[in-house]
Formats: sequence, structure tokens, C-alpha cells
Amino acid sequence: DEGADVKPRPPVVTVMGHVDHGKTSLLDALRQTSVAAREAGGITQHLGAFVVEMQSGASITFLDTPGHAAFSAMRARGAAVTDIVVLVVAADDGVMPQTLEAMNHARAAKVPIVVAINKCDKPAADPERVKTQLGSEGLPLEDMGGDVQVVEVSAVSKIGLDKLEEALLLQSELMDLKSRVDGPAQAYVVEARLDRGRGPLVTAIVKAGTLVSGQHVVVGAEWGRIRAIRNMLGKTMDMAKPAMPIEIEGLKGLPMAGDDIVVVDSEDRARMLSSARTKKKKQDRLHKIEEGRI
Ligand code: GTP
Ligand code: NA
Ligand code: MG
Repeated sequence: DEGADVKPRPPVVTVMGHVDHGKTSLLDALRQTSVAAREAGGITQHLGAFVVEMQSGASITFLDTPGHAAFSAMRARGAAVTDIVVLVVAADDGVMPQTLEAMNHARAAKVPIVVAINKCDKPAADPERVKTQLGSEGLPLEDMGGDVQVVEVSAVSKIGLDKLEEALLLQSELMDLKSRVDGPAQAYVVEARLDRGRGPLVTAIVKAGTLVSGQHVVVGAEWGRIRAIRNMLGKTMDMAKPAMPIEIEGLKGLPMAGDDIVVVDSEDRARMLSSARTKKKKQDRLHKIEEGRI
């Protein structure tokens, strides 16, 4: 992706951690710090992806994970839609099995981690214990001379949110994130659901290029023509650029988290590629059954 149309882009940050350690609460709190959220009069609706625009003009794209399925699927495809993982650990519970699983996913995918020790408002909070636990699991925290930043936060009392945003911006500056802006989009599915009236609705992130309404696409093994692109405030847009979370409408079937979105030049090609991928999926499944893996 080298060339004249390669431009800096916001980081895409995935929030991961053990169940109930406060991933969604933390995102809700961060969302309320956003200029856009304030302009929209506060967004109450839950979405799995959104952009926080800061006073400084910088922005960060956040993804929630209701479990690790999405991240695993993306990692399996080598898509690496995520630039940075925020590892949320509750200060009272400490490191738990899914904390370690998330940490290992991120490290295997070579995605840098920023640790958010959450629930620091609780009387039983013990952030030092969390740091010791993570250190003994081999995570090189900056307190211990490593390069992994740690921030103490509370999603409920709204403590440390500015520090977390600063840590993420610092991490992303170190990474010097850039994407090609023009040309066909390369995008990934974050989540997909079926709406009774509108059919399959796909939350997606464009990684490179520009996705344009009306284009024919193949998404995983599904296909369709983009009928509408909406931003995370529900506003209809003609196109979407890198690091922008969007919702797209117009697919014939329901894709999966982690699926890639490929732009093709006609309905025929969309059908062809989709049916080839469906066949391949069936073959892969057959092999797994034959090998006793299912
Ligand atoms: P899953 O998506 O189910 O894995 O959970 P989650 O990690 O998204 O956690 P969620 O945000 O749903 O929060 C779980 C519980 O912890 C809720 O009851 C929250 O109110 C509570 N909680 C989250 N953050 C904080 C915090 O900073 N302080 C306190 N005291 N409670 C919190
Ligand atoms: Na929860
Ligand atoms: Mg949650």
C-alpha cells in the first residue's frame, strides 16, 4: 500500500478481557467523552464499533468483543483488523482465564497491548496485584521496565479515561499507521445480524481504499450489492474511508465476524466468487469431518 494516496489514519482498537470485567462499560464511558457523541446528544444504543473524536481533533476507532469469536476469526484469516488491544482487567477480580486468553491472542497476532485496570473505584480494588500477576505471566509492563502501558481506570466513576486515550494515541503514534485511501476497499466484518425489515446488516471496518454505495461485493461466502452505508450515528453516506466503522445493507446472506469484504465489478462475478467460496467452505468442512476434527 505504498504511493501518493497513502495517508495517516486513526488506530483501530479492540477491547478484550474476562467476562464482566467492564469492556462494554468502559467503551460506553469513552464514547461519552467523544465530541460526536455530545453533538448527537448522547448515544444510548449499543453498537459494537464506534469512533471517539477527541477535543484535540485526533480520533480512535473502538471495537467491543462480546467474547473472542470475532478476534479469533480475524486472526485466523490474518486480517488483523485491530491495531491495538486494550486488555481490560477488573482490579478486584484480577487476572482470570479469559484475561490470559485475550493476552495470548494479542501477542500471537503481534498486536500491541495497552492494559486498562478497571473498577479502581471499588474498595476491594488492588491494581498492584494485577500488575504483579500480568508481569508473572510474562507481559512486559512499563512499570517493570517493559513497553506495555498500564492505566488505572473506572468506567463507573469515569476515572482515568483521558489517560487511557492518551496511552492509545501514544501507542498509535509509535506505530505510524497509514492506509491507501483511494481505489477498491479492503474491509472486514466486525459483526452481522439479521434485521426483519432490512435483511442482513453488517458492521464493518474499512482497512484500505474506499467502499462506495452501489458496489457489488463478496463478503466471506455471501454476496450482494451495497444498498446503503451508514455511519455509527445512523447517517447515510455515499462512501467509507479507512478506519471508519460503518453499517452496510444489501447482502443476500449473513456473513461472519472476521469475513473479508471484496469489491467486484459485476453481479455475475459476485455470484461466481460467492459460489466458489461456498464450495470451498463445504470442502473444508468435509476434510475436517474425514479427519475426525468435527
Ligand atoms: P461481557 O461483555 O459480558 O464479557 O462483560 P463486560 O466485560 O462488557 O462487562 P460490563 O461492561 O457488562 O460490566 C459488567 C459489570 O461490571 C456491570 O455490572 C458493570 O456495571 C460493572 N462495572 C463495569 N465497570 C465498572 C467499574 O469501573 N466500577 C464498578 N464498580 N463496576 C463496574
Ligand atoms: Na457483562
Ligand atoms: Mg460486554
